[in-house]
Amino acid sequence: MFEQEINKRRTFAIISHPDAGKTTLTEKFLLYGGAINLAGTVKGRKAQRAATSDWMEIEKQRGISVTSSAMQFEYQDKCINILDTPGHQDFSEDTYRTLMAADQAVMVIDAAKGVEPQTIKLFKVCTIRKIPIFTFINKLDRESKDPFTLIDQIEEVLGIKCCLINIPISSGKSFKGIYDRKSGKVITYVPKDSGAREIETKTYSLDEAEAVIGTEYYEKLKSDIELLDGASENYDKEKVDKGELTPVFFGSALTNFGVEIFLDNFIDMTNPPMARVDNNGRTISPYDEKFSGFVFKIQANMNKAHRDRIAFLRVCSGKFTANCEVNLYKENRKVKLSQTGSLFASERKIIEEAYAGDIIGVFDPGIFSIGETFCEPPNKFCYEGIPTFAPEHFARVRQVDTMKRKQFVKGINQIALEGAIQVFNESSGMEEIIVGVVGELQFDVLIFRLRSEYNVEVKLERLPYEYIRWIDNYKDIDVEKIALTTDAKRINDLKGRPLILFQHEWSPKMVLDRNEGLVLKEFSVET
Ligand code: G4P
Repeated sequence: MFEQEINKRRTFAIISHPDAGKTTLTEKFLLYGGAINLAGTVKGRKAQRAATSDWMEIEKQRGISVTSSAMQFEYQDKCINILDTPGHQDFSEDTYRTLMAADQAVMVIDAAKGVEPQTIKLFKVCTIRKIPIFTFINKLDRESKDPFTLIDQIEEVLGIKCCLINIPISSGKSFKGIYDRKSGKVITYVPKDSGAREIETKTYSLDEAEAVIGTEYYEKLKSDIELLDGASENYDKEKVDKGELTPVFFGSALTNFGVEIFLDNFIDMTNPPMARVDNNGRTISPYDEKFSGFVFKIQANMNKAHRDRIAFLRVCSGKFTANCEVNLYKENRKVKLSQTGSLFASERKIIEEAYAGDIIGVFDPGIFSIGETFCEPPNKFCYEGIPTFAPEHFARVRQVDTMKRKQFVKGINQIALEGAIQVFNESSGMEEIIVGVVGELQFDVLIFRLRSEYNVEVKLERLPYEYIRWIDNYKDIDVEKIALTTDAKRINDLKGRPLILFQHEWSPKMVLDRNEGLVLKEFSVET
């Protein structure tokens, strides 16, 4: 029973460049599981979304989704957890961390645009953990790039091989459907109205399809099939598991076309939750009977009336039961996990139990931090650290009213603990601090939160640095003697580790050339 529950679990993150259709596809997934009712038409969706998942005031003001959330739905005999990631190109650090909690990623690509900048960034993070990546090329109902051009681009730009699970037959106004390579069947796409929001699908054998899609498209399809059978990568589970090969699907999320075939293949091609490694290099099996999990995200003040914080926990082993007692590794103490919920947008549901693979939200009394590991006693260990991703924007932060030093320090520290900002000191020991963020909008969130939650006004002075490097071997070298470029600046993180900021992309390499034996890292993994 216990093992069956874990075997049922699949936990994936959905990633894309904004507007590729991630939200639309997620909604379709959830519809299959009956997890949500899609009230009204697609047009009504944005208003509905604003009402349910925009937790923070600033999100409402800007109409964007700042934070990511977790959703669960049942499909066939599987229980699927989706980790949503913020679509706005800011806030990517949160997105990056969410990827640490997932076992697979689903990458949505707009068929007219191909690989976009945010896709590249997110993809790079997926490769740190070598998780399987599934590709859904979306919006085939619009004029699209040629499928072979899209595949070439994915292979070239992202450096991952593609195996096509289905082949699209034309696109846009003449979109006819897809050919499923496994079954050898053609699934047709027939718009019911001119707006093409409602469609009809039917399944035909390849031979039967000629009469339906027309000889021209039939001949083109046959030559595409031949070309792919001869020249493209075959599906190879081992390669997919290692993140070396991505199964590629085509469809139209808006019209729910190609979504079911994607889900069917996805659950077939993926594995249950994988084992994870602790900081002593020990492998912890998801089937280990003792519950364990780690915090990958902390969300503050989701409900202003409560002024609370929720820690998002990925269950990695065993079974979680409500009100259990756990050991916290970093805090080195025991706590009772009260008020646990699974989070579906802002609607909180108390959960009684969860299994390896699930995501739960835990009320945080202010003692949890990103990467904290929860273990059922007597176990006490820590899962491998979540990387600290390189911020790309920096600012010096000054308090306007210096009398409020205590609130300022408290606010900055709490927000840093949640992982929304990274805080640095200048090596010269000045009083001011430098804040680094992955997305520029996080500066606005910082000012807003310090004002509304801590009653502190701050002034930000933007700094021209864009690149940061941790000095990996700082214990073995004399950091002061490193020969820098003129655009560089030395700083320390809160743990006292030395770092270098640069203005120009080429400078880290120049510094490496000038200092033999120096090791610079783009992200640091805390242990
Ligand atoms: P995101 O989460 O990746 O940012 O994208 P989202 O799903 O919000 O989709 C972005 C826009 O693309 C939406 O249009 C959505 O309706 C549209 N879209 C998504 N999938 C498809 C598809 O398969 N075909 C077509 N033609 N369009 C698609 P919008 O105008 O911004 O919003 P709305 O007014 O439709 O809600």
